[in-house]
Amino acid sequence: MNLTNSTILITGGTSGIGLEMAKQLLALGNTVIVTGRNVEKLKQVKANYPELHTFTVEVTDLKSVQELYSEVIEQFPNLNILINNAGLMQSIKFQNAEPEHITDEVATNLNGPILMTQVFLPHLLKQPESAVLNVISGIAYFAFDKAPIYSASKLGLHSYSQSLRSQLKGTSVKIFELAPPRTTKPMFKGSAEDNASVDRVPKMPIPKVVEKMIQGIQKNHYVIVPGMSKLLRLVGKIRL
Ligand SMILES: NC(=O)c1ccc[n+]([C@@H]2O[C@H](COP(=O)([O-])OP(=O)(O)OC[C@H]3O[C@@H](n4cnc5c(N)ncnc54)[C@H](OP(=O)(O)O)[C@@H]3O)[C@@H](O)[C@H]2O)c1
Repeated sequence: MNLTNSTILITGGTSGIGLEMAKQLLALGNTVIVTGRNVEKLKQVKANYPELHTFTVEVTDLKSVQELYSEVIEQFPNLNILINNAGLMQSIKFQNAEPEHITDEVATNLNGPILMTQVFLPHLLKQPESAVLNVISGIAYFAFDKAPIYSASKLGLHSYSQSLRSQLKGTSVKIFELAPPRTTKPMFKGSAEDNASVDRVPKMPIPKVVEKMIQGIQKNHYVIVPGMSKLLRLVGKIRL
């Protein structure tokens, strides 16, 4: 798929992988829209990168997603790529877990991308070439027991992406998945003991993850699995 002159919306574009995607996609000559919830972070992104367009959205809230859709499509009628990147990872021990921690994580990582896709899909289907990219994780393939709801929600998003790809076969909409490995800005924050055990896992620089994503999209590799995520996928298959 061609990755120049596209109009791309990235959820969770105010930090980490999402912000790096925005920078690299902008440098390729695309129009890039980043979203987040925190208005101050969005203002900071706009100040640092004036060519980026910023909008607020709470991806777990259908009304907020519909409002985003109306505002974005009015200003950017050629929008043709949606990147569902916003995510939340929590260290959860089931004996002490609060129900709202569990529902927040599933809502952000699974309901959010599904709602975003559902609302934007009719528009994407009208574009000559379009795509949805869902950011899953290497952990989707091999459950990380210290973040069990995160692992389950990312496996759910992987399954949803497979079904969506199959249902949209023959349309203009391509469905990609990016499964980042642990990066130089890891999401996991647990106890000192849990952090120490996780710290043995190698980290991939975020710019490299995004370079792999761009190469994957350009080559129409629908499932992009950089670095250690490949190993997790293999081990996950063997374990099944
Ligand atoms: N970092 C890693 O090592 C790693 C590894 C594998 C997979 N991933 C996946 O990669 C993606 C990005 O991770 P990251 O570490 O770069 O994230 P991050 O720096 O923590 O940024 C998360 C982004 O998501 C937004 N966000 C969170 N909840 C939201 C919600 N309910 N509605 C709207 N926006 C929301 C945040 O905006 P606000 O601050 O405004 O809420 C922020 O822009 C995630 O899907 C994550 O699961 C990350």
